[in-house]
Amino acid sequence: MAQFDLIVIGAGPGGYVCAIRAAQLGLKVACVEGRETLGGTCLNVGCIPSKALLHATHMLHEAKENFEKMGITGAKPKPDWKKMLAYKDDVIGQNTKGIEFLFKKNKVTWLKGWATIPEAGKVKIGDETHEAKHIVIASGSEPASLKGVEVDEKTILTSTGALALEKLPKKMVVIGGGVIGLEMGSVYARLGAEVTVIEYLDGLIPGSDGEVAKTFLRLLKKQGMEFILGAAVQGAEVKRGKASVSYKLRKDDSEHKIDADCVLVATGRKPFTEGLGLDKLGVELTKRGQIATDGSYATSVKGLYAIGDVIEGPMLAHKAMDDGHALADILAGHAAHVDYNLVPGVIYTTPEVASLGATEETLKEQGRAYKAGKISFMSNGRAKAVFQGEGFVKLLADKETDRLLGAHIIGPMAGDLIHEICVAMQFGASAEDVALTCHAHPTFSEAVREAAFACGDGPIHA
Ligand code: NAI
Repeated sequence: MAQFDLIVIGAGPGGYVCAIRAAQLGLKVACVEGRETLGGTCLNVGCIPSKALLHATHMLHEAKENFEKMGITGAKPKPDWKKMLAYKDDVIGQNTKGIEFLFKKNKVTWLKGWATIPEAGKVKIGDETHEAKHIVIASGSEPASLKGVEVDEKTILTSTGALALEKLPKKMVVIGGGVIGLEMGSVYARLGAEVTVIEYLDGLIPGSDGEVAKTFLRLLKKQGMEFILGAAVQGAEVKRGKASVSYKLRKDDSEHKIDADCVLVATGRKPFTEGLGLDKLGVELTKRGQIATDGSYATSVKGLYAIGDVIEGPMLAHKAMDDGHALADILAGHAAHVDYNLVPGVIYTTPEVASLGATEETLKEQGRAYKAGKISFMSNGRAKAVFQGEGFVKLLADKETDRLLGAHIIGPMAGDLIHEICVAMQFGASAEDVALTCHAHPTFSEAVREAAFACGDGPIHA
């Protein structure tokens, strides 16, 4: 038995950040992880591997569609799937080993295995029990299941299986037009598969800015992806390695079937808390099955905390990281807080989609008077030079005070551009503050500035 100030359960972005930060603040810290490698879903089977495949297939798209336009000619590259997977695995390895290095550097003990919490203040891994003043649950999330659709990770896949397919499919059905469905769907579409997305709602990416969602749908269709909207999947059958998905159109209840070589189920994720022993401990859950916490991440059990995907708030790696950072500060005796309204959301397709804060829809619902400043990337010289003139930046600001309320970007590097507005909103800036800040030319970020001008007297390039 060893004694620690803090034991963190789970070494994903929430857990590893919490462990490292707490160690940096002087606590004696251990982190329990049952996977062979650190980094959780994000580094092993989520954000990082999908970004490797998105990058590789974007390059392929550029070679096919744009090289010749730029005067680069010669034999056309084609995908070598095995090598592409090896590249992706190498990227995973570099990142997971990086966390192992950081654990050693910061003297965080990695306790290998799956943890249970037999009683407050104790963590059991296999036959060993350790004691800790504070225990943090950072066990993340797992794909939500869908009635009638049984995942085998060969023909019916979650994102995990979709990142390691043995061979490239000719036909793929994606259930769910959310983040995972659209990122992974565009990977396989760029690799030549016929991809059909079936989405329950009448539009993509629920909760997003309506204009962004419409533009996104149009651009993905242009790239060859197909969409069946307003359709509820009823079930999927696998016969001789091929799948048949049945769905009902919501407008008329008519039933349909679609065949595919594989099916990706991307209908959301749910907290992963299995085996921790939360029932026995009497840990309070929310109605949605998340661990209930107060404003300082404390659960209903003394000394037990929770962060990341197992608690409320957006299920995003960077939100979990912020939770972890803040909780480590709190445990070390400092004040800390994460504003979930200022957590950006990004979809790493081409074009990228990024959003922050209020949408026009939510502001209308609230009856809040606002102004919208919008500028197309067609007006941005840099975007046109790299064939990415489609899409726009939209900023929302309070009608009276000009204070920024939200930002919605679809276009090149949207996931990086959004952070200028994150900082601005963190400081309570107005659209004019952004407009009057010098932006280098020629950069994509000039579009953000022009959108800020569009909230006031108007932009130059429109
Ligand atoms: P999601 O919640 O983004 O989208 C799920 C979609 O499935 C929704 O549009 C929903 O209407 C639809 N759906 C549900 N049941 C259906 C049915 N029976 N038939 C047809 N459509 C149905 O969930 P997703 O894409 O699985 O992602 C899970 C989580 O992982 C999200 O919280 C997401 O934010 C996170 N994530 C974030 C990434 C990023 O930040 N780039 C990348 C990957 C995942």
